[in-house]
Amino acid sequence: MSKADLIVGLQWGDEGKGKIVDHMAQTHDYVCRFAGGHNAGHTIVIGEKRYALHLIPSGVLNPKAKNIVGNGVVLSPEDFIEEMAQFDDLQGRLFISDKAHLLLSYHAQIDQARERLKGKDAIGTTGKGIGPAYGDKITRTGHRVGELLEPEKLHKRILRYFEINRPLFEAMGIAQPDAKRLLADLKRYKEALAPYITDTVQMMWRILAEEKRVLLEGAQGTMLDIDHGTYPYVTSSTTVSAGACAGLGINPKDIGKVVGIAKAYCTRVGNGPFPSEDNGEAGKRLREKGDEFGTTTGRPRRCGWFDAVAARHAVRINGVDSIALMKLDVLDGFEEIKVCIAYRLPNGETIDYVPYDMDEVTPVYRSFKGWERSKGARSFDALPKEAQAYIEALEEMAGCKIGIVSTGADRDDTVVR
Ligand code: IMP
Repeated sequence: MSKADLIVGLQWGDEGKGKIVDHMAQTHDYVCRFAGGHNAGHTIVIGEKRYALHLIPSGVLNPKAKNIVGNGVVLSPEDFIEEMAQFDDLQGRLFISDKAHLLLSYHAQIDQARERLKGKDAIGTTGKGIGPAYGDKITRTGHRVGELLEPEKLHKRILRYFEINRPLFEAMGIAQPDAKRLLADLKRYKEALAPYITDTVQMMWRILAEEKRVLLEGAQGTMLDIDHGTYPYVTSSTTVSAGACAGLGINPKDIGKVVGIAKAYCTRVGNGPFPSEDNGEAGKRLREKGDEFGTTTGRPRRCGWFDAVAARHAVRINGVDSIALMKLDVLDGFEEIKVCIAYRLPNGETIDYVPYDMDEVTPVYRSFKGWERSKGARSFDALPKEAQAYIEALEEMAGCKIGIVSTGADRDDTVVR
């Protein structure tokens, strides 16, 4: 039996997991997604080409790797088919769990209607329908990918679902789907996806028994986890390492090394607490230098300093063995670099953990001396000594070694320690 390696985000998503998964996919036979949907967005740069992946695992860019979309994912057939079109024939290289839940156009409509109704309390979702699709899964009113294989039956079930929900949908201004068009869509989905739909749980067990090298690719980040993030400003899935087991049908003993991805600073899209956010010049500069605009929605990301409290929380929850620190070069040229080392509560008390309510904490900072240039460095020794000191201090504060440092978007701009 081999053990699967796992990659998880330690912040609010967009940590640059794509680059590391791409790096690690070179040495793995399978790359598997276990949670989330097309709310995720991994940008991978290879030479001149830029790929924006949303749901297809990043192993798709290694011709030798195979890719599994696990049962914990919510899959929009429409968007998935469009994403597949970026690549040549994927047959035999892509497998979709029959137990993954379907995300259909009405889920996005519900998502957007709810956000509208919430007004200033909106979560700032991607509007893709993730919450409503998981909601249907949990309330047992969802439809699974396996049902696509019998479009007529699924068609009837969806119409019945609309009948049951009619009062609710009417109140939200969501129209009944056109029955004829819905059936045509479902048939089209079947035609495009049927060759890829399979029992991926059996497959996981088989490939681990065959000693294949398996990589589990997390989406979003720990602080967006439904239980352990900044609820309710979170996504609707278990983004932490525990989610990999449920989302792929494996057990905790099947997991080997856990790599946690964190940027050398912090960003978040959408609303909700972000203690180390910088609304001034520094935040603006991080956004511009780091090109911090959402891959999925194009929204400008909120930017701020590395949050060591959140990182420590994430290291413990995920069982991280090694951190990959991304986009260090974005900090190049800053005279002063800050790190949030504790949170102060409104009563003046200082805490070193993530509390129940993050809304009212303010950051306690430690200041570091900046450096001129780390961009393109490919060994630890080639980094400026201030950058080396910064990395070593983050290791100490996060309670975990930093095994990889990324110093540029290119595949090769990477320090492996
Ligand atoms: P949802 O996942 O679309 O429901 O959005 C819920 C929250 O998670 C919002 O704050 C989104 O901006 C955030 N979110 C979802 N996916 C990602 C991602 O891939 N990166 C960063 N933030 C995300």
